[in-house]
Amino acid sequence: MTLLITGGTIVTATDQYRGDVFVDGEKITAIGSALTFPADRVIDASGKYVLPGGIDVHTHLDMPFGGSTSADDFESGTIAAAYGGTTTIVDFAIQYRGQTLHHAWETWMKKAEGKAAIDYGFHMIVTELNDQVELEMDALVRQGVTSFKLFMAYPGVFMLDDASIFKALLRTGKNGGTICMHAENGGVIDVLVQRALAEGKTAPKYHALTRPARAEAEATHRAIALAEIADVPVYIVHLSAAEALEMVTEARDRGLPAYAETCPQYLFLSYDNYEEPGFDGAKYVMSPPLRAKETQNQLWRGLASNDLQVIATDHCPFCMKEQKTLGKDDFSKIPNGAPGIETRMSLIYDGGVRTGRISLNRFVELTSTSPAKIFGLFPRKGTIAPGSDADIVIFDPEKRMTLGVKTLHMNVDYNPYEGREVTGVTDTVISRGQVVIDAGRFTGRAGAGSFLRRSTR
Ligand code: URP
Ligand code: ZN
Ligand code: ZN
Repeated sequence: MTLLITGGTIVTATDQYRGDVFVDGEKITAIGSALTFPADRVIDASGKYVLPGGIDVHTHLDMPFGGSTSADDFESGTIAAAYGGTTTIVDFAIQYRGQTLHHAWETWMKKAEGKAAIDYGFHMIVTELNDQVELEMDALVRQGVTSFKLFMAYPGVFMLDDASIFKALLRTGKNGGTICMHAENGGVIDVLVQRALAEGKTAPKYHALTRPARAEAEATHRAIALAEIADVPVYIVHLSAAEALEMVTEARDRGLPAYAETCPQYLFLSYDNYEEPGFDGAKYVMSPPLRAKETQNQLWRGLASNDLQVIATDHCPFCMKEQKTLGKDDFSKIPNGAPGIETRMSLIYDGGVRTGRISLNRFVELTSTSPAKIFGLFPRKGTIAPGSDADIVIFDPEKRMTLGVKTLHMNVDYNPYEGREVTGVTDTVISRGQVVIDAGRFTGRAGAGSFLRRSTR
């Protein structure tokens, strides 16, 4: 199968130019002007951007969590991702206590096989560390699972102590993997949660009020300090607080390899959402929580100045009906997480590029190129270049869309951005040479996605 994409504006992290792209099989094989190669299909991209497929390095599909399971599995979640212009995800496999990393990896591979419509990789969540697990970390890195998520929050479930975190960091110094950190001080938060509940404070907003920004900043600082002592890089996931960003900025100013991602929810939503009437605040219960509205500007500045390198989604959807309601009388029982896999590209283009907060190249860098580089996928993924996978998004910068449950494809009964109008919408999506979204319609196949063996740093 060959494809010729003509007349579009090709945008990478560094360039923007009019050109044609030729795809042969799964790869981009040529870029030029007025290409005349015969092709099975010609796609006219005039007036549109030709972007590298979005890479979302933070998703939770089919994940048991908080007494429930995230509502999108690898089929519905990856199809929704494709609709939104994302062609690669890196999801999280979980080692539950008492289990081996290998068991966790096999379990998540089975969840994805035959279901994923786009390519996928895995980070491994490590919840228990011993000598055997350290050896398994090495084995996983050799098999292409080259990053590990550790938690400084959720005591008794996921949280690791500092010694274990430090040992895991040291291990990545030897095996070339990368530690991704959920940076919130879980011990302090637990005390605040118990105190709030004892005072009868059970509404969703207390989720945010018991997870102060300083608890995120303290853990971010500690994560970076431990990584500095271990002399390895560290990647802070879902950074939400300006105080935490300050810690990353300070470290980077000292030349440390500290990296961080933020997510659209922290750029477009705020604490005010928890004050919505009734139980609606539960829609936004996620960790870290949404912050004060002023934080949004600071995060945008961090994105523009490269103190934040990635925008991922932390897509972890739970329906209001039957899932979020588990915490109707106790905010601490509301499953943590919100949907976002499908809305990332349009939200960031509309709210970031169109408003002048970031450039078009930076948009590509934050949503595709930089995650590909940090997580061992570049140059196979994350750019438009001969030899790269033909993961291509034809993006209409003038098309409008109203975000909402009716217009989107995620398997969840609400949307945090319901009714928000965005300008800039994915039109056609190509995943390893196959057209998977054609003029806004899914034409791909569940199971067509492949497991990605990622490289080390
Ligand atoms: O609330 C969140 N973020 N849920 C997903 C799990 C995690 O910590 O990323
Ligand atoms: Zn997390
Ligand atoms: Zn997450």
